[in-house]
Amino acid sequence: MSSIERDVVVIGAGASGLTAATELTKAGLTVAVLEARDRVGGRLWTDDIDGATLEIGGQWVSPDQDALIETLADLGLETYSRYRDGINIYLGENGERRTFEGDIFPVAQSTEKEIVALIDRLDALVAEIDPERPWAHPRAKELDEISFRRWLETQTDDEEARKNIGMFIAGAMLTKPAHAFSALQALLMAASAGSFSNLVDADFILDKRVKGGLQQVPLLLAERLGDDVHLNAPVRTLRWDENGVTAIADGVEVHARFAILAVPPVLISRISYEPPLPRRQQQLHQHLSMGFVIKVHAVYETPFWRDLGYSGTAFSPYELVHEAYDNSYDGDPRGTLVGFVSDENADGVFELSPEERKQRILESLSHYYGEQALNPVVYYESDWGSEEWTRGAYAASFDMGGLARYGADLRKPVGPIHFSCSDMAGKGYQHVDGAIRVGRETAAAILAAVVPA
Ligand code: FDA
Repeated sequence: MSSIERDVVVIGAGASGLTAATELTKAGLTVAVLEARDRVGGRLWTDDIDGATLEIGGQWVSPDQDALIETLADLGLETYSRYRDGINIYLGENGERRTFEGDIFPVAQSTEKEIVALIDRLDALVAEIDPERPWAHPRAKELDEISFRRWLETQTDDEEARKNIGMFIAGAMLTKPAHAFSALQALLMAASAGSFSNLVDADFILDKRVKGGLQQVPLLLAERLGDDVHLNAPVRTLRWDENGVTAIADGVEVHARFAILAVPPVLISRISYEPPLPRRQQQLHQHLSMGFVIKVHAVYETPFWRDLGYSGTAFSPYELVHEAYDNSYDGDPRGTLVGFVSDENADGVFELSPEERKQRILESLSHYYGEQALNPVVYYESDWGSEEWTRGAYAASFDMGGLARYGADLRKPVGPIHFSCSDMAGKGYQHVDGAIRVGRETAAAILAAVVPA
């Protein structure tokens, strides 16, 4: 066991921890970053699977994500646009395939009216929410007591309108069923992206990709930190008092003035604390849980849907794969579709054998794009639910009532221990942009403590 001394020990080499470590180093502090895995990046992971470059974790950059965009520029990384020319596909309840352009699905006129009215109402509510302090909204408690599903039922009797609006937050973002999280949590999700309209606009929210893959961000940040990043070093125990911490990982222990826990909040309680964290933290961490989604990658000899005039963008709240996009990799002449199977649907297909699951998922893709979708040359399912150091995807959210009750304390430091993660962000919540923002803010809080103004 090697023993080292640093000003700050950062636990977790995801985008958030590495950003915090970078900022602290720039300001002249010494750091050690302890990472459980044999790689950096956490939920950012670009890999070669059977000859195809795939983004197994996060990949898209939207125009409002200025912290991420600044980091990309700083690291000299370039972006490219997601392919989106052509018409989009929507499947109705009876499986009927309809095409559309723009954001509103081709549904009955009465349903379209309800969808537009719901989006307007949600935009108005979201405009009242400060994503950094959703619990401060005058109706926070009331909005946190009602599930998003129930809230939608109070707004319209049109089931297809409810299912579509529900899908944008439930299956597509928090990746939990709409009965499992509150209206306040849904409003935070939308407020974190600027508005509900932004969330439903795939051209906005899924705008750009990064050449070489988004994992380049943590890889390049870690490269600059050099030997201060320790891989295969899961932290098991954190000893602390008001004067400092000792982080005990496999093979290395770090004595430091401060610790940053840059891990998903569901993993905070996996570490033993001596003495234990205070009552409030022990309680609040139990009220957060990860969503669950399978990101499915299917690579074809050619992007055949483009020849049929399709953009590759497809949605249906009635399908196993509720959304899918053209995800062809920059410079690869082959075509890649990415699809998502969320929450209870993901539970369901994991009951099947891998072969049956693949068949069910490809069948769902074929409902959108036709029979050619059944025969990819590369097929891969990102399964973050079985990753010990993540345990779900995309991120963590509070249970009913948890955000109003505990949200304000989520990032409050405990003595020398600070907390940093995308799942604790306001703006950029659950996204890399949020991870970077919180990383910067956490570093600034530590610098303010060591260098009084
Ligand atoms: P992250 O979880 O990445 O990092 C935490 C690190 O801590 C991990 O490396 C982990 O191994 C480590 N760790 C945990 N416990 C430890 C311990 N005890 N000791 C040491 N290390 C420990 N975002 C986006 O902006 N655009 C997108 O398109 C997507 N899409 C997307 C798809 C999928 C499938 C996923 C899973 C996620 C996304 N996201 C996304 C979300 C985005 O990837 C995510 O918000 C950030 O990468 C999270 O970064 P953090 O650093 O906060 O946590």
